Amino acid sequence: MEIEDIPAVFALGERVFTVDDSPTLYRTWDEYQVVDLFSSDGETCLVAELDGKLVGFALGTMINKRKSSWVYGYLIWLAVSPDVAGRGVGRELVESLNEAFIELGARMVLVDTDADKEDALRFFEKMGFGHPSEHVYLSLNLTGRPEYRRIRARRDRR
Ligand SMILES: CC(C)(COP(=O)(O)OP(=O)(O)OC[C@H]1O[C@@H](n2cnc3c(N)ncnc32)[C@H](O)[C@@H]1OP(=O)(O)O)[C@@H](O)C(=O)NCCC(=O)NCCS
Repeated sequence: MEIEDIPAVFALGERVFTVDDSPTLYRTWDEYQVVDLFSSDGETCLVAELDGKLVGFALGTMINKRKSSWVYGYLIWLAVSPDVAGRGVGRELVESLNEAFIELGARMVLVDTDADKEDALRFFEKMGFGHPSEHVYLSLNLTGRPEYRRIRARRDRR
């Protein structure tokens, strides 16, 4: 990935991470995800191009746990344009990212997605990922809380 790819990566994420298809990904995807990961982990941010057009990306980071010999690669964001679905772009991205993770010392790759996102789960199984463990996203609407009104009122007075 190059710095010039940032707008196209963001735009493809906006297209693929929809509220209906993947609400958690939709809520957490924003331009800072791309800019921050590209700045901190440029070596594990990859894009796929077809005929000069960006058609996919894989954004990952390294996790080095202190006092542990285990180093993990964490695939945070993966998307392929629906225009080229099923043509091996996702596989190519994951396999290339695995190689980048190995290069940087990783011994295991982690990935997560919404539990009911069957298509992504089947894809990751095909890529060799296994041992799924349930991961539940919870949310708290802060606007109904007394501290929300108190803090917002104080903020508005400033
Ligand atoms: C999941 C995704 C990355 C797959 O990309 P893709 O380029 O279409 O996948 P590929 O063509 O490389 O497929 C690789 C393998 O996975 C299989 N596969 C892909 N999508 C699948 C699906 N929906 N159901 C079952 N198998 C699937 C393919 O059949 C292929 O298997 P094969 O190599 O044995 O033939 C893409 O559909 C996508 O961007 N989805 C939305 C975003 C998302 O869910 N991201 C992951 C969480 S961040």
